[in-house]
Amino acid sequence: MADATAKKGTYKEYDTPHHDLRDWIDRVDAMGELTKIEGADWNLEIGAVAEMIYNHVPDNPPALLFDNIPGYEPGFRIISGMTNSINRLAMTLGFPEPSGAMDVVQWYRDRMKDFSSIPSRFVNTGPILENIDRDEDVDLLKFPVPFLHELDGGRYIGTGDLVIMADPDSDWVNVGTYRIMVHDKNTCGLWMSPGKHGRQIRDKYFKLGKPCPVAISIGHDPLMFLAAGNEVLYGVSEFGYAAGHRGAPFDMIKSELHGLPIPAYGEIVIEGEIVQEDMRPEGPFGEWTGYYASSVREDPVIKIRRVYYRNKPIITMARPGRPPSDYTLSKSVIKSALLWDQVEAAGLPGVQGVWCHQNGGGRLFNVISIKQAYPGHSRQAAQLCCSVHAGNYLGRWSIAVDEDIDPSNLWDVTWAMATRCDPVDDIDITRRAWSGALDPMKRAGDNFNSRALVDACRPYEWKDEFPPVAESSPELKAKTLQKWKHLLD
Ligand SMILES: Cc1cc2nc3c(=O)[nH]c(=O)nc-3n(C[C@H](O)[C@H](O)[C@H](O)COP(=O)(O)O)c2cc1C
Repeated sequence: MADATAKKGTYKEYDTPHHDLRDWIDRVDAMGELTKIEGADWNLEIGAVAEMIYNHVPDNPPALLFDNIPGYEPGFRIISGMTNSINRLAMTLGFPEPSGAMDVVQWYRDRMKDFSSIPSRFVNTGPILENIDRDEDVDLLKFPVPFLHELDGGRYIGTGDLVIMADPDSDWVNVGTYRIMVHDKNTCGLWMSPGKHGRQIRDKYFKLGKPCPVAISIGHDPLMFLAAGNEVLYGVSEFGYAAGHRGAPFDMIKSELHGLPIPAYGEIVIEGEIVQEDMRPEGPFGEWTGYYASSVREDPVIKIRRVYYRNKPIITMARPGRPPSDYTLSKSVIKSALLWDQVEAAGLPGVQGVWCHQNGGGRLFNVISIKQAYPGHSRQAAQLCCSVHAGNYLGRWSIAVDEDIDPSNLWDVTWAMATRCDPVDDIDITRRAWSGALDPMKRAGDNFNSRALVDACRPYEWKDEFPPVAESSPELKAKTLQKWKHLLD
C-alpha cells in the first residue's frame, strides 16, 4: 500500500461503538495515537502545526488535541486529523486491525452490499444542552476559532463540521460538511458549491422567499464527519447513514428554533437562518486542491441566534491545504469505497480495486483496476468512475488499469499509463462536467470542467500477445527471497 501502512501492536477492536467524541478520544489515546499540544495560538500556529505533522506522510500520524489556547479558557479545545491514520479510521468504523488502507476500502465496500441506515433516536436532553447562549448573548468568538492559512479571508469555525438542513419538500434532513467563516460575533459565511445537496435545499427556501433554517455542529463523533464530508446519495440522511455504520442509532435533540436534529452528545452546535438578502464577502480559503482557489465572493450570511455547547467543548477541525493534509487519507479511503460500490451498482463487473489518490484530494486523480472481460470494458470502467455520484464532482483524471496494477501504487499506475496507453486512441475527453469554484484551472463563475478518461489497460483485442512483463516469476522471486533475504536487511 503506497499511501499509508498500519503500525502494529497497538490496535484494539471494541465490541461496542464509541459513545461520543470524548470516548473516541480515550480510545485513540489508548492506541497511542493522540498527541496533546498546549499553548499553540489560534492565529496561524494551530493550522501550521497541523500542516507540519500531516504534510510529512508519516505512517499513522497522531490526532492532535490542542488545549490551553492563548486567550481562551483552558479546556476549550480543538482536535485535528481525527481519522487521518488507517488504524483510527478502521477503529472509528468498527473494523478489525487493517494491514493497509486498501483493507478498509474493501471492508467498507463489502459492508455497503448489505447496508441499511438506522434512524436517529430523539431524546429530550443531553450534554449539548449544558450551555445555551441565546440571541444577544451569542458570541462565536468565545470559542478558539482558528485562522488557518496566511491568505484566508477570516477565521473558520466550520471545517470538520456538519451543516444540518431540512428539505422543505420532504422529511429528508441533509447533513453536509461545508466551510463556515466567522464574520462577527453572530454572523457567518458559508460556502456550498453549486449542486451540493445543502445548496439545493437552501435554494428551495430562497425560491419560496424564505430564509433557510440551519443548525451546524462544530464538534462531534468522527463517524458523522465521515458521512457528511463524502458523497452520500441525494435524499439519504447522513445521520442515519453514519448510524448504519455504527450499528446503533444516534441520540438527537430537536433544536430550539427550527426543530432540526442536533447530536445530543455533540460538542458545539450553532443555529440560525441563511438570509438571502444579507450578502457579505466569503473567502478566500486554502483548499483541498492545494490552492486558495475560490476567490472572494458575496454570499448570503447565516444569522446565528442559538449556541449550544458542552462544558469544555472541542472543535473538530479539518484543515485543507496542499495535500497530504489532516483529512486526505480518510477522504481517499471513503471515496474509493463509495466509488467501488457505486460503479458495481451501475453494473460494472470485474472490479479489483479503486483508489482516489490523496495527491488529487481524493477527487482529481482516481484509478480503477479491472479484470478485462469484454471489448469496451475498460472504457466503461473509466467512464463510470467519473460519472457516478461519488466520482462526479470536480474530477479530472479517471484511469482504468489491469488487474496486475495496484491502483493505490503510483509506481504501478504511472508505469501502466506510460506503457499501456497510446494517447491518441486511449484518452477520451468528456466536456462540461460538474466542477466548481475550487478548481484552480477555472476562473470565477465557470462551474464546468473536462475529464480525461485514460485507458491504461492492455488493448483488449491483443492483450494476450502484449509483451510479457520483464520481472521474475513468483516462484523465482520466492526462491531468491528465501536464499538472499539478508541482503534486504
Ligand atoms: C473537510 C471538508 C470540507 C469541505 N468543505 C466543503 C465546502 O466548503 N463546500 C462544499 O461545497 N463542499 C465541501 N466539502 C465537500 C462536501 O462535504 C461533500 O461534497 C459532501 O458530499 C457534501 O454533502 P452533500 O452531498 O449532502 O451536499 C468538504 C468536505 C470535507 C471533508
